[in-house]
Amino acid sequence: MNHPEYIRLKGLVNEHLLDFLPEIDNKSITLYDSMKYSLTAGGKRLRPVLLLAACNFCGGDERRALPYACAVEYIHTYSLIHDDLPAMDNDDLRRGKPTNHKVYGEAIALLAGDGLLSSAFEAMTKDMFLCFDDPAQLKQSTRAIHEIAKGSGCRGMVAGQCADLETENRQCSREMLDYIHINKTGSLIISSVRAGAYLGSADINTLEELSNYAEYLGLAFQIADDLLDVYGQEDVMGKRAGVDLERHKNTYPALYGAEASQARLRELTAAAVRVMEPYEERGSFFAALAASLAERTE
Ligand code: IPE
Ligand code: IPE
Ligand code: MG
Ligand code: MG
Ligand code: MG
Repeated sequence: MNHPEYIRLKGLVNEHLLDFLPEIDNKSITLYDSMKYSLTAGGKRLRPVLLLAACNFCGGDERRALPYACAVEYIHTYSLIHDDLPAMDNDDLRRGKPTNHKVYGEAIALLAGDGLLSSAFEAMTKDMFLCFDDPAQLKQSTRAIHEIAKGSGCRGMVAGQCADLETENRQCSREMLDYIHINKTGSLIISSVRAGAYLGSADINTLEELSNYAEYLGLAFQIADDLLDVYGQEDVMGKRAGVDLERHKNTYPALYGAEASQARLRELTAAAVRVMEPYEERGSFFAALAASLAERTE
């Protein structure tokens, strides 16, 4: 994604990503190192960029939203560390580097994930203290944190990951596949957008429209990830290709074939773009982002 606004927001996230981690005691330096290893290994920073962009779109202050944006990236990074563990997808390459457990061992990788998840909520609630005297801001913060908790937890990402693993080596229905994709990947994307909208004090209509956009984008993003696993280049993706087939995962290309998956990706991308069209220039960043994420598979 080379949209100047994407590059700017991604730069802001990268610059401040470690600022909201708690100070770690020297005795737990391995834990801190392993958390930092995965956080700074690279990554598109899609979820924090979406959160900041949604906040700005609604007229909010991106600086205020920064701890929440970084928190979402902590949660996403934790999900990747755990996703790569031998008990889950058993991957050895992530963000162009050996996976966390390959460097630190499985036990530390588990704990690094745990540490990142709780640090996310520590960072967001720490920010909440700052607005105790401002009930309107406090309400926005609470809503944003609740949204992120819901999307990343057992009614969202974790539920999707569980279903993904349980359906390995068996055929699942198309309905089940959408459940997996919408939860394991869509949920955190939707929560990031909605949290940003809350922090920007969105009105109910804007919140609804941004949510619709994020729903299309979230599913499209996982379909693109599935297609890239088949057709993508390892050096561009920073992770191994062909692993879904090896592990008998239920994916869009496996269930629908490549052509129909590509068509569905195009359809969802067009739907995301259409949601933002009435906003004209103001919505152009979100439209361009949806288009560029789909273009990765062409
Ligand atoms: C990978 O997410 C896992 C999925 C949800 C598909 P990303 O493709 O956003 O990974 P990074 O953050 O850029 O490494
Ligand atoms: C993972 O989906 C989604 C997460 C919540 C981490 P995948 O297992 O397809 O992600 P990759 O392909 O390993 O990045
Ligand atoms: Mg997985
Ligand atoms: Mg995986
Ligand atoms: Mg994948």
